[in-house]
Amino acid sequence: MMPAVQDTAVHLSDRHFRTIAELIEGQVGIKLPQGKRLMLEGRLHKRVRALKFSDLNEYVENLFEGDHFETELTHLIDVVTTNKTDFFREPQHFTFMREVAIPSLLKARGGKSATLKLWSSASSTGMEAYTIAMVLDDMVRNGSRFQYRILGTDISTAVLRLAKTAIYTRDVLAPVPEPFLKRYFLSSRNKASGEVRVVPELRRTTHFMRMNLMDKSYPVDRDVDIIFCRNVLIYFERETQRKVVEQLCSHLRPGGYLLVGHSESMVHSALPGLKQVQPTIFQV
Ligand SMILES: C[S@@+](CC[C@H](N)C(=O)[O-])C[C@H]1O[C@@H](n2cnc3c(N)ncnc32)[C@H](O)[C@@H]1O
Repeated sequence: MMPAVQDTAVHLSDRHFRTIAELIEGQVGIKLPQGKRLMLEGRLHKRVRALKFSDLNEYVENLFEGDHFETELTHLIDVVTTNKTDFFREPQHFTFMREVAIPSLLKARGGKSATLKLWSSASSTGMEAYTIAMVLDDMVRNGSRFQYRILGTDISTAVLRLAKTAIYTRDVLAPVPEPFLKRYFLSSRNKASGEVRVVPELRRTTHFMRMNLMDKSYPVDRDVDIIFCRNVLIYFERETQRKVVEQLCSHLRPGGYLLVGHSESMVHSALPGLKQVQPTIFQV
């Protein structure tokens, strides 16, 4: 058995784990169950060394000190958020957007020239937002008449940094259809880097900013056409889910759509007034 003194050097005490779990749930809405404890400890070690604290517990004891708090909260959020994403993740949503949602939204505008607004509200590294951009650009090339603006928001500054650069490693491109690969990605001049970048035409229409879905109000237009809120609600408590969905819907124009992840169709019981078009697609 390890001596207790070594344990405190490597592990968080129960009290300190609770401090972080309560802080994160209060600020971000994400629950941190005991099962996440090892992951949290593992990811925090690097930060503890960088700040020259002797162990994790000393780090937590100093967390609320003055200016240090805001910076550390940002780091903690980067550490605890799950940022898994993909291009064309849950592809049926993009088919629905192309074949049903956009035609119906354009029809409702009575054929007038329209600028559609789309929002990827837990955008992670931007793959969801750039997938939307690829599909919309392709529609325009194929004769649909509209302009569009895409907003990506997330609480994690680390993923937003990646989203803004739009530089990815080639291995994430597998789900992208062949013609889109050629049209929408540029290879790095340094072939050995294995990196690609989204073309400037799509980057120009896609903007990112930091936003917390837990905030009381969102600094976003109230006539958004389609909101993607996928694979983030599952981390929230039921009441938080309800508030977030209600607030997101208040940013949709009448007839606008909310798309949630495949394991998040509970949104319907959270807000029964919403019209459920498909299990994970809702309309206001
Ligand atoms: C699993 S990723 C999903 C990314 C993308 N929507 C998809 O489905 O591929 C969840 C994202 O939600 C973000 N997130 C978690 N809590 C958030 C909050 N309170 N406000 C905004 N974003 C949050 C995380 O930083 C993470 O990037």
